[in-house]
Amino acid sequence: MKILDWEGIALIIGTGDIGTHLSHYLTSVAPNLDVIICGRNIKSPNGIYLDLENDDSLISFDESISSLSKPLRLVINTSGFLYSNIIKPEKRLTHVNRSNLLKNFSINAFAPILIAKSIEKYISPKLPFSFSSLSARVGSISDNRLGGWYSYRASKAAQNQLLKTLSIEWRRKYPLATVSILHPGTCDTKLSKPYQKSVPKNRLFSPEQSSQFMINIISRQTPSDSGKFLAWDNSVIPW
Ligand SMILES: NC(=O)c1ccc[n+]([C@@H]2O[C@H](COP(=O)([O-])OP(=O)(O)OC[C@H]3O[C@@H](n4cnc5c(N)ncnc54)[C@H](OP(=O)(O)O)[C@@H]3O)[C@@H](O)[C@H]2O)c1
Repeated sequence: MKILDWEGIALIIGTGDIGTHLSHYLTSVAPNLDVIICGRNIKSPNGIYLDLENDDSLISFDESISSLSKPLRLVINTSGFLYSNIIKPEKRLTHVNRSNLLKNFSINAFAPILIAKSIEKYISPKLPFSFSSLSARVGSISDNRLGGWYSYRASKAAQNQLLKTLSIEWRRKYPLATVSILHPGTCDTKLSKPYQKSVPKNRLFSPEQSSQFMINIISRQTPSDSGKFLAWDNSVIPW
């Protein structure tokens, strides 16, 4: 059965631009999935509050999933961090500091694997299951030609390693599960806004477009693809 025909629960983690559009798009194309958005800025009545940097919040997230009556089938993590009012991506070594490294790693690397840990007990070994998380091409070590953005790059590379490792464990435990690590392309969102100048217009996707690309890729993956790092056009990105 195709992913878009699956029945059960789909969790979209992250209430940002891609997360919000992705949950709308998935709701429209997968009528048998109950799509639940989880994050800090919940607007939908069935949404689940989740602060990925707070262990108590992860525990109550886990409890909320346990009360759902349908099987968990699909989880997509769309959370991420690049900058805030006080933290900016580093242009050079002198900009590197502990708080920037910690913040990026906390959301971009620790959160995806902690989400996997929270949801694991709700995966049925008898049903196909899909777990995806948004990484970024700049997390590719072999593709790093420009330098800079130390914390963001390294935290996404760390996410990739954590999820690749997860895919190996789940291959044994949940042979019907697929883990996918996704690059949504450069997408016109709050996260990329200050860094879009050099991006050609036809390479700057809307959140609607990126969401469609992500669902398209996820629906093509099978357990034998588990652990791949894939771009918006379904091409494999080198580690
Ligand atoms: N946009 C691009 O061009 C691009 C390119 C490559 C990769 N990506 C990746 O795609 C993903 C989605 O990014 P986006 O463009 O949609 O950015 P976005 O609009 O900034 O969304 C990121 C979301 O992550 C959430 N988040 C951060 N810390 C959190 C926490 N502690 N608990 C819960 N949620 C938290 C934020 O929630 P709050 O709203 O509560 O702060 C925000 O809504 C990210 O992983 C990003 O790295 C994006």
